[in-house]
Amino acid sequence: MKPLKEDLVQLGKFGRKKPVRIARRDHLDPEHGLTRLPGTKANKKARDYIVKRMEAAGLDVKIDKVGNLFGRMGGADPKLKAVLSGSHLDTVPNGGMFDGALGVVSALEAVRRLKKRGFENDRPIEVVVFTGEEGSSFRVGLLGSSVLVEKLRVNQALCLQNEQGNTLEEVLERIGYKGSYERTVDDVEYFIEMHIEQGPILHNEHIPVGIVENITGITWLFATIQGIPNHAGTTPMKVRQDALVAASKIVRLVNKRAKEMTTTLNSSTVGTVGELEVHPNTPNIIPGKVHLGIDIRDVRRENMNTLVGEVIEALRTLEKKQGIQVRIDPPITHLPTSLSREMVTTIGQVADQLEIANKRMDSGAGHDAQNMAAKTKAGMIFVPSVDGISHAPMEWTNWRDIERGTRVLTETLKNLSQKNNKTMWKA
Ligand code: HGY
Ligand code: MN
Ligand code: MN
Repeated sequence: MKPLKEDLVQLGKFGRKKPVRIARRDHLDPEHGLTRLPGTKANKKARDYIVKRMEAAGLDVKIDKVGNLFGRMGGADPKLKAVLSGSHLDTVPNGGMFDGALGVVSALEAVRRLKKRGFENDRPIEVVVFTGEEGSSFRVGLLGSSVLVEKLRVNQALCLQNEQGNTLEEVLERIGYKGSYERTVDDVEYFIEMHIEQGPILHNEHIPVGIVENITGITWLFATIQGIPNHAGTTPMKVRQDALVAASKIVRLVNKRAKEMTTTLNSSTVGTVGELEVHPNTPNIIPGKVHLGIDIRDVRRENMNTLVGEVIEALRTLEKKQGIQVRIDPPITHLPTSLSREMVTTIGQVADQLEIANKRMDSGAGHDAQNMAAKTKAGMIFVPSVDGISHAPMEWTNWRDIERGTRVLTETLKNLSQKNNKTMWKA
């Protein structure tokens, strides 16, 4: 367990206000988590650390044009398509230390363990770090894997701008991670990602391993409501065009309708207005402009589209009724995705053989695996999040669960990288 835990504790320092070692849950500071946005110094430190650890493990490290990292262990039969395993190192603002990092470190640890055993893999095995999974900076989300599976072209990605107006290209150059490696997904057979569940199911049911069958769809809607800024003391109530009052109706609608849909449709619908910027944001000025960032999800595409449609319609009605202007950016959508049955079965067989309790489940969080599923046989292993907390400083997974998940990952990687392995799913 040691190197696995040490790598996570080391990574857990990069992006923290005070780079303290967090090795126990009671070391966590509920106010201060990790902020490791793509292209920042903290992101560079995390990348540099993992590159060093990949090289120490004898992997051949390459960087592609959007900063995806690939650490490759050659196979006995290089003609065979590779097995990729990994996740992301960027975090949400003030997030936790396991989201993404666990998938990268556990993949590296699995390779170290297989090498230590002298295991002869037939297929090449690669540890992968995808750029900009969270979308917190460049909005798109699942950025690096979208380029790898050709959902996004390289130059479309490189000219995306972050909140400071810097392009992805500029920030990658700044941290020295704008590579030139041309990586195609055509020579990848399997992709497997270990990740914290980020929800309460495994924790509440005391089950150490989740096997993901479906990943939710996600649509991000960004809208700007333009009212009329005016004096808070002298402007009569009946003539105001208060952008925040209009925005508050959208906040209430998203929450109300998502709740209703979960009951009437028995669906997994969730709706959140997680981003709200009020301008000029001072008590004695009627808000003139409000910017909203809305996150709508469901494992069923039609449900997600229903709620997105209702929100857009509500914004348009506000425009008509309240005479405000509304600008809605084109929605950014990642579709709901079913993962490979072969992978679900194989991971389940491995967990059963290791006598590690496991359950099949869906993911309410988005993951790079939902991109990789478009072009490879993709699977995911979940480990419990204590109290279901994630995207927050108190995100925590117990070391024992990390070890059990890593054992399942290691044996699954072993099976997937053998040409004719016994435990594979038979059609
Ligand atoms: O937002 C998500 O679901 C993921 O953490 N990117
Ligand atoms: Mn993640
Ligand atoms: Mn996340």
